[in-house]
Amino acid sequence: MNFLEERIVKDGIVKEGNVLKVDSFLNHQMDIELFDQMGAEFKKRFADRPINKILTIEASGIGIACVVAQHFGVPVVFAKKTKSINIEGEMYTAEVESFTHKCKNQVIVAKKFLSEEDHVLIIDDFLANGCALQGLIQIVKSAGGTVEGIGIAIEKGFQSGGTVIRNLGYHLESLAIVDGMDASTGEITFREQ
Ligand code: G4P
Ligand code: NA
Ligand code: NA
Repeated sequence: MNFLEERIVKDGIVKEGNVLKVDSFLNHQMDIELFDQMGAEFKKRFADRPINKILTIEASGIGIACVVAQHFGVPVVFAKKTKSINIEGEMYTAEVESFTHKCKNQVIVAKKFLSEEDHVLIIDDFLANGCALQGLIQIVKSAGGTVEGIGIAIEKGFQSGGTVIRNLGYHLESLAIVDGMDASTGEITFREQ
């Protein structure tokens, strides 16, 4: 097991409905030393890529993205979620459906913060069905930029997102891939990588 898998086993809580709670260290209370290790690991895994910007989505992606960004020495842009339908021409927009929350959000990034000159590393805390990622990829494409890679903390390997994104040809690196969870025993199975 790597450092993140070990931490998930130690402090993660398996809930009914295939939900993994990691709010004591990842997406509510945040362990910044752990984030720093994650940043170093992503820097290693994407060392050959000319990354000049990190893109994430509010809310839980932001903290991780900021620490990762220190390892790359580049700025972070986060996509904002909004319910409003009429958004003026200053923004790139994409529609993101949340299976967990059963709703649709527009995600937006101001055009002035993303362009065809950008080589983007997308960062997020979770990958489940991949809807958020698809939205972020759409936004980079709209800007004419390049997705150099995608870095995820925890991928739920039994949901479709990872397969879809890899089949599209993206360089996706997940620090932990959970292939199964059992709420009654608390047991978590990780994919060998
Ligand atoms: P998708 O983007 O991969 O399609 O994810 P999905 O709609 O299934 O998930 C919706 C939200 O739930 C996402 O956060 C995602 O990170 C989170 N999520 C999915 N599975 C789990 C899980 O097992 N545990 C935890 N803790 N979160 C999970 P969000 O609502 O878009 O953003 P945020 O405001 O929480 O960052
Ligand atoms: Na997220
Ligand atoms: Na989340």
